[in-house]
Amino acid sequence: MTNEIKSELPDIEIPTSRTPRILPGQKALVTGANSGIGKGIALELAKAGADVVVNYVVNPDTAEALVEDLKKEGVNAFTFKADVSSEDEVIQMFGEMFKRFGTIDILINNAGLQRDSPIETMTLEQWNKVISINLTGQFLCAREAIKEFKRRGVKKEISCAAGKIIHISSVHEVIPWAGHANYAASKGGIMMLMKTIAQEVAPYRIRVNSISPGAIRTPINTKVWSTQEAYDKLMELIPYRRIGEVDDVGRVAAWLASDQADYINGTSIYVDGGMTLYPGFATGG
Ligand code: BGC
Repeated sequence: MTNEIKSELPDIEIPTSRTPRILPGQKALVTGANSGIGKGIALELAKAGADVVVNYVVNPDTAEALVEDLKKEGVNAFTFKADVSSEDEVIQMFGEMFKRFGTIDILINNAGLQRDSPIETMTLEQWNKVISINLTGQFLCAREAIKEFKRRGVKKEISCAAGKIIHISSVHEVIPWAGHANYAASKGGIMMLMKTIAQEVAPYRIRVNSISPGAIRTPINTKVWSTQEAYDKLMELIPYRRIGEVDDVGRVAAWLASDQADYINGTSIYVDGGMTLYPGFATGG
């Protein structure tokens, strides 16, 4: 008789979305909302009862289609085209939001991109593009949101906080990433931007946190999940042995924006299946 070793993993169950209505009447702005993680978050916020501004830069059709999906959740939504690295466009976007929704309760600072290159051939343009969208864009939007949070203050019937900012960062705020110096630098910058703003505005009852996703199945990283070979290689970096889905991030965002998470301030929540656990050390070291 041979001793059979069972090595297969159990069938992978992916949770289905069950976001309860924990954000009724709140007004949210999601940057870069018409694809990937931004879209996943916009949908979960709408399920939770928030009205949503869908910011986008390219593909107006997908932004409009998303607005229709959000409205099916019984909330209000509209699109606004703005490049978050442009101060004027950001100011116009907030102005339009205040005109149509009256105020802002939740900012999801999500818009971001990659322009990968080995360091010695990285152009200044690639560097500047990533820093200006990923980092400067988050600063500009946070600044406009905070002005409004402070002006309006707490409205008890809406939320016990005067406002909530969620920065969408990355595991690469702490994991160095060869070939992606601009991206990793932008995410490391987001971490200190988030913590510093959180410390500065906490006395006004404004909560500022980050969600730091690992590998989530979106267009930004198609290369790492679209073939079996690439997926298997990716799994070596994820102890939980599955890729993340956008609603894994969306559900956390809805909860973190809600009063259920009222005492969480100045923190990064890693939504990464354990990617930040130094998986190489599971067998080495
Ligand atoms: C990047 C993805 C990458 C993931 C894990 C994210 O921040 O945008 O391309 O797959 O980090 O490395």
